Amino acid sequence: MTQQNAAPMKAIILYDSKTAGGSTDRLIDSIGLELARTGAYVEKAKCKAQADYSFIQEFDVVIMGAPIYYLLVSSQLLGALVQSNLKKNLKRKKIALFLTCGSPEPMATLLYMPQLKIHLVPNKILTEKIFSPQQLSDPAVIKEFVDELTEAYRKATRKRNTSMHWSDEAREELNGLPSFLRGRIKTGVEEYAEEMGYSTITPAVLNEAKADLGGM
Ligand SMILES: Cc1cc2nc3c(=O)[nH]c(=O)nc-3n(C[C@H](O)[C@H](O)[C@H](O)COP(=O)(O)O)c2cc1C
Repeated sequence: MTQQNAAPMKAIILYDSKTAGGSTDRLIDSIGLELARTGAYVEKAKCKAQADYSFIQEFDVVIMGAPIYYLLVSSQLLGALVQSNLKKNLKRKKIALFLTCGSPEPMATLLYMPQLKIHLVPNKILTEKIFSPQQLSDPAVIKEFVDELTEAYRKATRKRNTSMHWSDEAREELNGLPSFLRGRIKTGVEEYAEEMGYSTITPAVLNEAKADLGGM
């Protein structure tokens, strides 16, 4: 049996840096090149705190990253998450995160990464990486980041052969719906759960899916 190739991933790198041509600019070019080598279509866009981000709708994956300056993620990226429609347009997008900074990784994981992740709680985060100054131009480290990202994307978009598992409580809730609605809602909830990486549909997942699908 022949298998059809999936459509190539469309990725956008949303980034910020105060240093034109600096280490972050060079890193995103390397990430972009490495991703393009895997067959992905890649674009990059420098963030502005106040801008229209509806263009990200056409991408499958949003890679977001910036340097740390004075303990904070660079201001235009953080600003965009708070002041623009970026967060709204990230709804249900698959995300990869990176930071560039001089601090040791454990400190950066604890202090800096949450500044981004707090805005991305509902998103599927495919991979995340804190690049130390030594790693910024290390092709092996950049390739590892891109490999992790493409593998996680492949897993997240793979069509499952087996049907989704429903907990008893969630199934009871589903069975309580009028029969003419049940099939459509079951499919919608399963697609949502699959996209979000859930393996079991519980009442909590049902509620999330309801909110996401507009009340059902
Ligand atoms: C003004 C300034 C402030 C910085 N503050 C921090 C910091 O608080 N914590 C940290 O881990 N790294 C800090 N760094 C290191 C940068 O995050 C790191 O060098 C990054 O790669 C710079 O990216 P760029 O070349 O794109 O500007 C700082 C660098 C500069 C120039």
